[in-house]
Amino acid sequence: MSSQDIPEETLPSKQGDTREGAVTVKGDPFADPGLPPHEHRVQDIDERAAKRSERAVAFMFTLSMLATVGFIAAYLAIPIDKNIYVFPLGHISAMNFTLGLTLGVALFCIGAGAVHWARTLMSDEERIDERHPIEASPEVKAKVMADFAEGAKESAMGRRPLIRNTMFGALALMPLSALFLFGGLGPKPGTKLRKSKWAAGKLLVNQNTMQPLRPEDVQVGSLTFAMPQGMSEEDHDFQVQIAKAALMIVRLRPEDIKDKKELDWSVDGIVAFSKICTHVGCPISLYEQQTHHVLCPCHQSTFDLSDGGRVVFGPAGHALPQLRIKVNDKGYLEAMGDFAEPVGPAFWERG
Ligand code: FES
Repeated sequence: MSSQDIPEETLPSKQGDTREGAVTVKGDPFADPGLPPHEHRVQDIDERAAKRSERAVAFMFTLSMLATVGFIAAYLAIPIDKNIYVFPLGHISAMNFTLGLTLGVALFCIGAGAVHWARTLMSDEERIDERHPIEASPEVKAKVMADFAEGAKESAMGRRPLIRNTMFGALALMPLSALFLFGGLGPKPGTKLRKSKWAAGKLLVNQNTMQPLRPEDVQVGSLTFAMPQGMSEEDHDFQVQIAKAALMIVRLRPEDIKDKKELDWSVDGIVAFSKICTHVGCPISLYEQQTHHVLCPCHQSTFDLSDGGRVVFGPAGHALPQLRIKVNDKGYLEAMGDFAEPVGPAFWERG
């Protein structure tokens, strides 16, 4: 049923509706109720309340400044490898935690201060704007500029220098956080990627059982993961070190090994290669014993372990580094030195 079908005497009367903003359309059953009477905020009628709000806003901007200073101090003072216990996250990097916390507080306080300022101290006037064409006329543009100037005046920035100064201070300090974060991109790692925990005489330890490996522990067709003797998951830099030292060991038939150097660096067909993909550093984990290929699960780079770890497929740029091994007097497999080249992508060291 349309409004035309409703007898006029049953419709709400719009005539004489004196509420602000009310639209009086004869016979309209869904009348615009208009705006309720405007209620002034306590800050508009009580100067002491306004002062309290002003101090609260200034406090938040000041807190933001302190958090930014804390961010910079944390960046400079906290050792990058220091861990702390944070419930419920467990042991995490002290620097990451502190940088995240201080940056979060700095940003939050700027936002909270601005919102509180707008809600309690800026103009509280309610307005109704009629729709207008999208393209503003020159008069409207001029009016917008005038309104903008008026808004700046109403924000009381000139009258409240405490807010203005602390806000500019907070906004000026904030970008410093980004500057210090960019500092984290450098300097170049130098020779750090060239050195791993492998050295002459280091036993090859099974990463699952933590036992030193003997040649008879490595069977044809199996893929064994190893790390250098002396490393422990409890070490504070374990993740950094294992990312360079992780090793995979397979046993091939010596006659299947095509690369002469690989054969010389092996023990009875047992070869040891870096487990870190030379594309962007994922750990390799899939071994196909018929072809002697290993596959990186990240972007499917495939390496031939019977041919010097050569790349046979995928985006990896160079072969997997091989570790030279031998059997010591006690019958255990041990390294004869570190890798001869950087493991993983090692962009900076390959010139
Ligand atoms: S990281 Fe191995 S293929 Fe991309």
